[in-house]
Parts: sequence; structure tokens; C-alpha cells
Amino acid sequence: MNVEFMELIRRRRSIRKYRPDPIPQTKVDQILEAARLAPSWANGQCWTFIVVTDPKVKRALAEAGNEWLEHAPCIIAACADPSQSGQKKDQDYYLLDIGIAMEHLVLAAEGQGMGTCWIGWFDEQKARDALGVPAEVRVVALTPLGYPDEEPSARPRKSLSEICRKDRWE
Ligand SMILES: Cc1cc2nc3c(=O)[nH]c(=O)nc-3n(C[C@H](O)[C@H](O)[C@H](O)COP(=O)(O)O)c2cc1C
Repeated sequence: MNVEFMELIRRRRSIRKYRPDPIPQTKVDQILEAARLAPSWANGQCWTFIVVTDPKVKRALAEAGNEWLEHAPCIIAACADPSQSGQKKDQDYYLLDIGIAMEHLVLAAEGQGMGTCWIGWFDEQKARDALGVPAEVRVVALTPLGYPDEEPSARPRKSLSEICRKDRWE
């Protein structure tokens, strides 16, 4: 794995305070391109990304659970059509598809000097209404996108020895 990539991973933080400066469209496009290239179940690409800059829509999304979101210059909503992904037993793969694409997006944003913050806790119905998504589509995640106005320290992680085992669980 190349060092630059590891550096990107190490540097990334969840950012919850943003400068109001707008983001150049070329940068937004590059960040979305990283999401577009993500792998997915049977290459179904079940995702649609809605890039929100309209203050009224941002406000409505903020009211879905995270008031501070309103102050980000941009919010990206990651939506999924489950019928374009797969299911195995009780696992819905659209969630994984979106998770991978979002992580591509988040790391690409970091590479552009921009902050993001995965938002999983929100009132989906309110987000759906704000975004006008069709009934069959789920709003899986939101992230603000913009230039950070804070520099949080690294949040703790478990050590490798706590999270890795050899050959078998026991
Ligand atoms: C699936 C998922 C859902 C999350 N949902 C929220 C959320 O609703 N609100 C929030 O402020 N942060 C949310 N986060 C951010 C986590 O709190 C954050 O990643 C974690 O505390 C580690 O901090 P770091 O991202 O700065 O390393 C979420 C992260 C993930 C991966």
C-alpha cells in the first residue's frame, strides 16, 4: 500500500465545523468520481448521490437530526435503490455498497483538503421529504462537505491485537 494513501487514512477526521467558503465544482466532481468507481454487489451501482447546496434543502436536512449540518456549504446525500443491489439471508448489500462508495468519497475529499462526516443518525422520512426521493429509494447516509474550521485530534482506535485473530476465532 503506498504511503500517500496511508497518510490520507491517518489524516482523516469527522469534521463538524465548516468554513462557509463554497467548493469549486471541479473538486466536487472529483470527489463524486471516486464514489462512482467503487465496487458494488454484482456491479449493480445502486447509488445516487444528491449534492445539496440550496439553503432551504440544507435547513430541512439539518432538521432531520443534526442542526450543525446547516452550516456546511454542501451536504451530500447517499441514496440507494435496494432492488439494484443484492441480499443474502438477512443481509442487505445496498448498505455495504453505499458504505464502500461513501468511504471512497470521504477519502477523496480528504485528498482535496476537504472535510466530511458520515451521518447515519437522522430521521430518514424527514430526509426523504427534504430531498424528494422516490418511495423505493433509501436515504442511507449524509455527509457535509467543505473546508474544515476545526482540527480535531485523532479519535482512539482499538489496537491491532484487539481486533485481529489468527486462523480461527478462539
Ligand atoms: C456508519 C457511521 C455513522 C455515523 N453517524 C454519525 C452521526 O449520525 N453523527 C455524527 O456526528 N457522527 C457520525 N459518525 C461519525 C463517527 O462518530 C466517527 O467516525 C467516530 O467517532 C470516529 O471519529 P473519526 O471519524 O474522527 O475518526 C458516523 C460514522 C459512521 C461510520
